[in-house]
Amino acid sequence: MISFSAPGKIHLLGEHAVVYGKPAVLAAIDLRVHVKISPSRHADLNKESDSLKKIIEPIVKKELKIKKIPPYDLKILSEIPVGSGLGSSAAVSSAYIAAILSFLNVKWNLELVNNLAYEAEKVFHGNPSGADNFVVVYGGVVWFHKQTEPVKLSSQIKQFMLIDSGKPVESTKEMVEKVRIKLQESRIEVQKIFDDQERLVKELVVALKDGNQNQLISIIRQGEKNLESLGVVGRKAQNIIRLVEKTGGVAKISGAGGVKSGSGMLLCYHPHPKTLLSFTKTHYLPTLSIALGEKGLLLCR
Ligand code: MEV
Repeated sequence: MISFSAPGKIHLLGEHAVVYGKPAVLAAIDLRVHVKISPSRHADLNKESDSLKKIIEPIVKKELKIKKIPPYDLKILSEIPVGSGLGSSAAVSSAYIAAILSFLNVKWNLELVNNLAYEAEKVFHGNPSGADNFVVVYGGVVWFHKQTEPVKLSSQIKQFMLIDSGKPVESTKEMVEKVRIKLQESRIEVQKIFDDQERLVKELVVALKDGNQNQLISIIRQGEKNLESLGVVGRKAQNIIRLVEKTGGVAKISGAGGVKSGSGMLLCYHPHPKTLLSFTKTHYLPTLSIALGEKGLLLCR
């Protein structure tokens, strides 16, 4: 049996703008997906993984210039909530691609898995930046920019919390498209938002390195406001975020967002985590504690 795991991710800042060549800071988190492949005599009839196979297998076959993959059983166990901004598609694709390559005895490396996972992300999301697949494959806290080599960052601040604002009804693809249309209609306004996110992302790198909590809170607050102006944060999430801010903390969406219903997992930080926890209990909000900067793709023995 061959087994790989990959982490989920959060965007500390820069989501959406990163699609248009602006920088983003992302981190691998301590929620993982585990993918196991074992040789089988018959084709796997597991319907659940069928749609995933239909996306991943052609990408691997094209890369290796092969027509067939011998039958195998595929098992996927995930701790990463699906469609909530935590990079579940990138994580599952990366772990699955690495598992198939090993199953086929192909000499693989992280670069190959990352490139193929990016191809899968194109099928899932249409026009991805490549940031999600990069951070789940390589792990850590990452400065990502489409045109330059990504850089691993150091962060003194690692403990964050997620608050579930509800699963978005829109897909990442739809949210990226929504921003594309807004950019077409209000180019100057959106470009201004992107420029401001770039400034904040640069400041964030310093705040993380120095462990400057006040700076981090101020940056995330401004960054979230920009995401709201971009039109990717729904009412429900905005209400939760304003309440978190009133307690002295900060919160933002962690990926593409959503407007019709939930906006996915909110990344929250509070100088006094107990205050945040008691706030979420009073409001019956589901939470998860997460650590940032976790390991990327791993072969499990
Ligand atoms: C989705 O996790 C992040 C987006 O910036 C899309 C992308 O980077 O491909 C919205």
